Amino acid sequence: MSTPQKSIGVIGAGTMGAGIAQSAAHAGWPVLLYDINQMLVDQAKESITKRFARLVEKSRITEEEGIYCQERITITTCLNDLANCDLIIEAIVEDFDVKSKVLKGVGDVAPNAILATNTSSLSVSELGSVCGFPERVVGMHFFNPAPIMPLVEVICGKETSESAVQRVTLLAEAWGKTVVHVSDTPGFIVNRVARPYYLESWRIVEDGIAPVDLIDNSMQSLGEFRMGPFMLTDLIGQDINVATTRSVWDRLGNPSRLAPSAKQESLVQLGNLGRKTGSGAYTHDDRDNIIPAILIEIAELEVSDRLAKAIEEFCLEASCTGGSMIEQYIFARVLGGIMNEAMWAVTEGVASAKDIDTAMKLGTNYPQGPLEWAENIGLDKVHNLLIALNETVSDDRFASPPFGTISAG
Ligand SMILES: NC(=O)c1ccc[n+]([C@@H]2O[C@H](COP(=O)([O-])OP(=O)(O)OC[C@H]3O[C@@H](n4cnc5c(N)ncnc54)[C@H](O)[C@@H]3O)[C@@H](O)[C@H]2O)c1
Repeated sequence: MSTPQKSIGVIGAGTMGAGIAQSAAHAGWPVLLYDINQMLVDQAKESITKRFARLVEKSRITEEEGIYCQERITITTCLNDLANCDLIIEAIVEDFDVKSKVLKGVGDVAPNAILATNTSSLSVSELGSVCGFPERVVGMHFFNPAPIMPLVEVICGKETSESAVQRVTLLAEAWGKTVVHVSDTPGFIVNRVARPYYLESWRIVEDGIAPVDLIDNSMQSLGEFRMGPFMLTDLIGQDINVATTRSVWDRLGNPSRLAPSAKQESLVQLGNLGRKTGSGAYTHDDRDNIIPAILIEIAELEVSDRLAKAIEEFCLEASCTGGSMIEQYIFARVLGGIMNEAMWAVTEGVASAKDIDTAMKLGTNYPQGPLEWAENIGLDKVHNLLIALNETVSDDRFASPPFGTISAG
């Protein structure tokens, strides 16, 4: 693609806005980066400049390219400067009223622009409808850090025009991103399908079956997940993780599968938010040494013959590593929950099976997409596991959508 003439407008120069601006400039696009005051845009420009300088140091780009990249970003505190943009990406605070007001304001200023929102949890359709330009508002959900993470979830609101979806898809691809298409549903793909990774792990702790470090180790060794659920939530922030769970759970109508964990919420109430506060699921010292911070009384694990057989058959195909009985139980219970959520998502038309798998691999580094993983194991074995697990719970949360309709194709 030749270098385009029109600037991409980016509203909000925080973590995501600055990252999106950097991605666009790196790919050759001129960017107008807007925020509410000069200090914020100056800081963003300075940090982007440093990041380009680091790419030069690492020989990822030449010095000359580094200068061009920086020069492509113009900062502004005047919304009217965005009048000529034909695409504006909003990455401001996650607040419905603030976002809809800003979208309305910028939609008036730039009457022909497509208005993309980077919201993680709000409805794209509702934002479009309240701001008054439903056909122009589209979701463009980048992941943090935006210049590095390859995934963009493109969300089509109820009245979003096809041309808006097409335009942002082509643009993201031209920036080197992989796009998945998602319907306007709570948590989109990644923030929904990943929930059982955390929630089922918390429930295992609540049931007194295993401590956090054993759960983390089991998911890493048997499943080859890069980081265990407790290490990961300590890194993300237990508060952020709980807020996402609450939002997805509420907006989906409180399904038992995604109910928040009381233990995780109490941790947040105590202010133990993870690495940023020095304590969460683990205590973290200055050198990043960690010790489990949640002590539990271990209850004896009782498993029916049916569940034991289902776990054994599931793990034989799902993992290359043997693992102890308790490790296999943890791995099968958590991964089974993820696969079930992915199957519900595909059944409810959130996205295609292929896009769900792509999103989970690129958006959250899963070793395999949950649906292709399920197909490789054998859907009958996954089904048997979910039935056997469901017999052990009182809230029916392992109930699955009808099998036989799911294909990773
Ligand atoms: N941080 C993440 O990991 C992540 C990942 C994906 C999506 N998101 C979404 O991206 C958006 C931004 O998140 P963030 O983490 O970059 O937040 P942030 O707090 O780092 O930045 C938000 C920026 O928006 C600016 N802002 C606030 N009100 C404004 C207004 N009225 N007009 C213009 N600018 C305004 C703030 O000054 C700030 O610079 C949110 O919708 C969030 O849900 C965040």
